[in-house]
Amino acid sequence: MQNKQWLINGNPRGRALALTDFLEAQAALQTLRPNEARVQVEMLAFDPAMKGQLENVSGYASGNDVGNLMPGRGLGEVVESNDASLPVGSKVIGRLGWQEYATVTTQDVEVVPDDDLLSARLGPLGVTGLTAYFGLLRVGKPEPGDTLLVSGAAGAVGSVTGQLGKIMGCRTVGIAGGQAKCDWLVDEVGYDAAIDYKNDSVKARLKELAPQGINVFFDNVGGVALNDALGRIARHARVVICGGISRYEQETLPPGPTNYFNIVFRQATMEGFLLSGYEREHQQAIERLTDWIRGGQIKYKEDVQQGFENIPSTLLRLFSGKNFGKQLLRL
Ligand SMILES: NC(=O)c1ccc[n+]([C@@H]2O[C@H](COP(=O)([O-])OP(=O)(O)OC[C@H]3O[C@@H](n4cnc5c(N)ncnc54)[C@H](OP(=O)(O)O)[C@@H]3O)[C@@H](O)[C@H]2O)c1
Repeated sequence: MQNKQWLINGNPRGRALALTDFLEAQAALQTLRPNEARVQVEMLAFDPAMKGQLENVSGYASGNDVGNLMPGRGLGEVVESNDASLPVGSKVIGRLGWQEYATVTTQDVEVVPDDDLLSARLGPLGVTGLTAYFGLLRVGKPEPGDTLLVSGAAGAVGSVTGQLGKIMGCRTVGIAGGQAKCDWLVDEVGYDAAIDYKNDSVKARLKELAPQGINVFFDNVGGVALNDALGRIARHARVVICGGISRYEQETLPPGPTNYFNIVFRQATMEGFLLSGYEREHQQAIERLTDWIRGGQIKYKEDVQQGFENIPSTLLRLFSGKNFGKQLLRL
């Protein structure tokens, strides 16, 4: 039997991702070895960091060379197994890659319940939710009454971050692109206010919406958003650098934010973090996030594209803001 795959075909460092960075291929499925199982991939999850992984940035990602299978997290069903802990019919989540069938061992995947939160484990109960949780709670250290500003607020991480901020008693302001995303943030997600960076002056709106200054800024975007927020930080503010999607496709990086010296004037901190630093605490965080989702305090939206052939174009959606919610694809 043949296995359709997408292979890496280019390194997009210093430029936008292109469909030609991926090449469709077929490989014959091999007989399983002892302790291996075959998973039929049902759904893939997409994250802007996948571009960084393709770039093999030193100290961050490696081994993603041209000709290799494109890596990616997904969920699927075990269809053949030589390992009793991965029984046929069970649902698994892990690094399955951009392919129809993944050959795995127990180290590659986690068996998960086949319940109503199955796909949420690729979003708010997976990397997305955990990133929001540790970035906000551990690095941002929100206090009740704080004003929390989130950029990329309508995205997968940003929408969970705002809701965690509300749970912690903050006033929340989100920055997102377009009226539809801003309306969703206020009407459905529960942000107190939203700024449409594509049509509003972020600087002027921040003056209005954060008259006492921003206590916590959770930044997914960098660039102008970061500079505008730094211009309005409060005393002892915490600036959390989660991501910087505005810089991911630039050939030449712009100079640093001109407002950075407010970090000194306001005795603030600016700290980056990687989710991989908190692995030992993941289980406890997932239990808390599950309770909040089940209790209706955290809502989430999924943007589910369809079809093996659309896998590369689905990744590209993240960089033009086409995704509305956690970007997923059903094979
Ligand atoms: N530190 C960590 O460990 C860690 C882990 C996971 C993710 N992250 C980071 O978290 C951030 C959010 O990831 P996600 O998975 O939740 O993606 P996402 O926010 O669901 O999708 C990306 C969003 O970024 C916005 N965007 C794209 N290009 C932009 C630009 N040039 N300027 C401003 N906004 C732009 C778009 O929203 P609009 O339509 O609103 O523009 C788009 O929908 C990313 O930066 C990612 O790298 C960090």
